[in-house]
Amino acid sequence: MCGIVGAVAQRDVADILVEGLRRLEYRGYDSAGVAIINNDNELQRVRRLGKVQELADAVNNNPLSGGTGIAHTRWATHGVPSEENAHPHISSNNIAVVHNGIIENHQELKNLLIEQGYVFTSQTDTEVIAHLVDHLLKTEASLLAAVQKACKQFIGAYGTVIMDRRDPERLVVARSGSPLVIGYGLGENFLASDMMALLPVTRKFAFLEEGDVAEITRFEVNIFDKKGNAVERDATEAQVSHDAGDKGEYRHYMLKEIYEQPTAIRNTLENRIIDNQINTEAFAGDGVNADQILKDIDHVQIIACGTSYHSGMVARYWLEQYAGVSCNIEIASEFRYRKSFVPKNALLVTISQSGETADTLAALRLGKELGYASSLTICNVPGSSLVRESDMAFMTKAGAEIGVASTKAFTTQLVGLMMMTIAIGKNKGMTPELQQELVQSLMSLPAKIDEVLALAKDIEALAEDFADKHHSLFLGRGDQYPIAMEGALKLKEISYIHAEAYAAGELKHGPLALIDADMPVIVVAPNNDLIEKLKSNVEEVRARGGLMYVFADTDAKFASDDTMKVIQVPHCDEAIAPIVYTLPLQLLSYYVAIIKGTDVDQPRNLAKSVTVE
Ligand code: F6R
Repeated sequence: MCGIVGAVAQRDVADILVEGLRRLEYRGYDSAGVAIINNDNELQRVRRLGKVQELADAVNNNPLSGGTGIAHTRWATHGVPSEENAHPHISSNNIAVVHNGIIENHQELKNLLIEQGYVFTSQTDTEVIAHLVDHLLKTEASLLAAVQKACKQFIGAYGTVIMDRRDPERLVVARSGSPLVIGYGLGENFLASDMMALLPVTRKFAFLEEGDVAEITRFEVNIFDKKGNAVERDATEAQVSHDAGDKGEYRHYMLKEIYEQPTAIRNTLENRIIDNQINTEAFAGDGVNADQILKDIDHVQIIACGTSYHSGMVARYWLEQYAGVSCNIEIASEFRYRKSFVPKNALLVTISQSGETADTLAALRLGKELGYASSLTICNVPGSSLVRESDMAFMTKAGAEIGVASTKAFTTQLVGLMMMTIAIGKNKGMTPELQQELVQSLMSLPAKIDEVLALAKDIEALAEDFADKHHSLFLGRGDQYPIAMEGALKLKEISYIHAEAYAAGELKHGPLALIDADMPVIVVAPNNDLIEKLKSNVEEVRARGGLMYVFADTDAKFASDDTMKVIQVPHCDEAIAPIVYTLPLQLLSYYVAIIKGTDVDQPRNLAKSVTVE
């Protein structure tokens, strides 16, 4: 999604802004732009369609001087990707604006502003912010006052930064629905939509809260809440490392992140298991007794989107099978717009890598109104909106995930969800033996994943078969069904091959009609209670001339032949099989994408953190 960087400094800030945008590239975008106020108090603006490098080249060819500036990567919502729709947008040659989110009532505001004589030069919703602030400045005493007044007229979501060339050492920022973080420097201050952008210049950050408006100068940051009261927002030192944004020896972030999974899982488990028991402090929240809440709940409602939704689907199997607690799982964008029933003593669990996904956040807010007993988020980004707004948070310790296709965030979510299952099950009759068994399975994961990663060469060879394919089918049963769904999502998002996932038992109810030699069928087959059922489904495909690629437990007795290529996956405990079988599917989609020559880390049309609904 769109990215924002801003700076007020004595030094020239063009390089800081462009580097900041580079560090936000992973979020997905189609154009980029920068505006800087120079020493003669003139606005200079450069915008380019395409990569940040295009913008960097343009800025190198025509260097921009000046210490106050804003920059943006745009992911089109209103108006096609183009230079004229790229941000910053300017009004009356005085005001420059960048914006993340959507101003839903932009048409209405636009009509009013046209009546006031404003001429619109883009098809974006953002341009109304620039003209409205300019218009209000005719009567308001300061940029801050004009922005505060303008915000009252906006319906929708925004993280926005505004500057006025007549007041050249000040930025005004406003947050409602789209995250913004302030970065504190010495004699200079910064802001961004994601702290990753600012790690080269500062490590001290404060997150704005919903409804905050702030003015930022070189020496001061003044924050006002939605009622206009001056407030303090805690500044904290970033834990994430400066080079988290580097690919290291890997060709792509995605590959690096796939290989980081043993470490990410180790970090997620560290200090959270004491004497084979889950330390419920891992689920802590301000002023809440996590231990008691997990004891009291009788039902779990999980809400998430995309890959995170798939981890929630696995958790449903686990919670009902191991903890004996009923569980529902729903896509956030559906949950938030339907009337739902809230069972007694129900815990609302959101799952999110970014912690900023607009639909998931809206679902959490709705859930609080509906009367869930408590809320817990399983999240990878400390300080994110979901973490701050939930009663409890379990932080996955995957580290920064840059590749748009989620990998290590997913497997660490599953680790967190299994820990939650054990922590809840403990009070619902889960035997100490089973608790110990599940904990030991979790502890064995990093080494097991290393074994699976050693299959990379075989999987790379398999990927060749997909080069000319346009469709594919993923099959799994039980808790492997969501893993099949996750495999299909990975393949479609980075290789652009159409991929569907089915619970293997559903095959004969329709999708069997699709089977032919041009439709590769990928099967995940751990050696569990369902293996014989799955083998029957495999025979159904074989009988229709389908070609299969089976990731099978070494003990499951699958053998390669003319119709089936088998990759033997090292045997693992049943409980952790969903995590283990995710890895080969991640590698398969990665290698297919390499053959297809797609942009693996920033697949077309996609964004890393989906902050608009
Ligand atoms: C796919 C992917 C997305 C996200 C989804 C939710 O690889 O990454 O499907 O899982 O956009 O994002 P988070 O987890 O940040 O809420």
